[in-house]
Amino acid sequence: MGCIQIPRGIKICLIVTAILIAALAVVVLVLSLTILKPKQPKISTKSVTLEYIKWVPFPFHLNVTLGIVVSVDNPNYGSFKYDNSTAYITYRGVAAADAPIEHDTIPARGSHEISTTVVVIVDSLTSSPYFWADFTSGCMNFTSSTTLHGKATVFKFLKKKVTTYSTCDLSVYIQAQNVISVCHSKVKY
Ligand SMILES: *[C@@H]1O[C@H](CO)[C@@H](O)[C@H](O)[C@H]1NC(C)=O
Ligand SMILES: *[C@@H]1O[C@H](CO)[C@@H](O)[C@H](O)[C@H]1NC(C)=O
Ligand SMILES: *[C@@H]1O[C@H](CO)[C@@H](O)[C@H](O)[C@H]1NC(C)=O
Repeated sequence: MGCIQIPRGIKICLIVTAILIAALAVVVLVLSLTILKPKQPKISTKSVTLEYIKWVPFPFHLNVTLGIVVSVDNPNYGSFKYDNSTAYITYRGVAAADAPIEHDTIPARGSHEISTTVVVIVDSLTSSPYFWADFTSGCMNFTSSTTLHGKATVFKFLKKKVTTYSTCDLSVYIQAQNVISVCHSKVKY
């Protein structure tokens, strides 16, 4: 603009333009390596509640229904899309129950909560060598784990595959009918 006629002007104009383009390229590069760089979304377990508990002594039946709420925070200037997943409950390292988590997309710098209900039918755990001691102590410990696999995308070209998970140590108090949870979140780069 304004540098059409004078040859010297054209030269200056080209130099200035080149400098501007170079500066812009540096800015874009720096941004894509810093704030625009896809970051790891974080999931954390907000609450674990005992929704329902039923115990029948004979024949032995114990239904422990847990409500789990996890929140997913997407720190990116782009969306985070995660795949179908599963929340698992284990008892002393053995799978005890699971519940599906449906795929979804979290918008840029958004967060949302996922609620799932996991029904642990304890009957099948009675074969565990630890079971009766734990049960008669009135407190049974479980572990819950929720893992999300997905993709964080900033613009169309900055993409990153991510895996993020949250685990909780749960103590279910059968007589008192409550659950105490201690949760940890981890990210995997
Ligand atoms: C366990 O309890 C939940 C919640 O009331 C119920 O939906 C589920 O059908 C029960 N399962 C069994 C096997 O009793
Ligand atoms: C995810 O789960 C939903 C419902 O459970 C199903 O309709 C969909 O096809 C699944 N998507 C993938 C990619 O497996
Ligand atoms: C269950 O977990 C609680 C808290 O972590 C712990 O104090 C307790 O000893 C555990 N009980 C068993 C039977 O492992």
